Amino acid sequence: MSRIRKAIFPVAGLGTRFLPATKAMPKEMLPVVDRPLIQHVVDEAREAGIEHFIFVTGRNKSVIEDHFDRQFELELTLVERGKKEELSLLSQDLPEAGTASFTRQQSPLGLGHAVWCARELVGNEPFALLLPDVLVQHEPGCLAQMIDAANALDTNANIIAVEEVPSDRVHMYGIVGVGETKGKAFSITGMVEKPKAADAPSNLSITGRYILQPEIFEVLSKQSAGAGGEIQLTDAMLALAKTQPFYGLKFDGRSFDCGSKIGFLAANIAYGLEREDIAPELRAEMQRMLGGK
Ligand code: G1P
Repeated sequence: MSRIRKAIFPVAGLGTRFLPATKAMPKEMLPVVDRPLIQHVVDEAREAGIEHFIFVTGRNKSVIEDHFDRQFELELTLVERGKKEELSLLSQDLPEAGTASFTRQQSPLGLGHAVWCARELVGNEPFALLLPDVLVQHEPGCLAQMIDAANALDTNANIIAVEEVPSDRVHMYGIVGVGETKGKAFSITGMVEKPKAADAPSNLSITGRYILQPEIFEVLSKQSAGAGGEIQLTDAMLALAKTQPFYGLKFDGRSFDCGSKIGFLAANIAYGLEREDIAPELRAEMQRMLGGK
């Protein structure tokens, strides 16, 4: 497969599950420890070798654009106060000039439509898609594992990260059907968006990381609405699967669905426990709260 250089981040969602926190602030800017959700996901993409970051934003999301820009007043104040560590933290995260692009999804028509909005920025090459609601805690990251697996597959392969979910949760995700094993991956035999448990082809859910071929845009341009009245990416992938191979990869690592309150809180604890600077105190605090020793 040719090198994956570009990644799409759909960040136009309204974040209704986190109101009122998300009334004036995009949900993607909610912090997991001290980094916004979107920054964690961009970090994962960058570590996987992504060079161009494409954000599909919406109204009231301009603060995401600001986050990936310089903040001169702040930098100046940090310089004046000799805060070198904070300054280097800011410069590490800054995308190189010209490598972050922003386009707007003008109407909330679904994930498939959001991806289609990035077609001109992606052009005619395979690309990664990362949903910022999902964090995967692992080294190497989920996308790096997928790119690694992709190298052993057909040149026109599409790859989806999947993980097992309990049957009472399959109705919340896209679910794939499982075919033959190929290296670390397996052939996907079907896909259905948010099925009832009884209709689900397996208990393997689509986790929010994809490597897709550019032909998906042609399929998405037909823009027919599916589950929930939205233009579903899963439906477009199913259509593309008639002419191109789709593979699932069970990645290593723990995922957190930060679109849910519990997933978000769990991610904060898990990422906090991995941080040398705060883990001991956090652990002690948790033990106190839970009434432990
Ligand atoms: C989207 C996808 C779904 C996937 C999920 C992962 O759904 O449509 O297939 O399983 O993300 O988080 P959403 O959560 O946007 O409804």
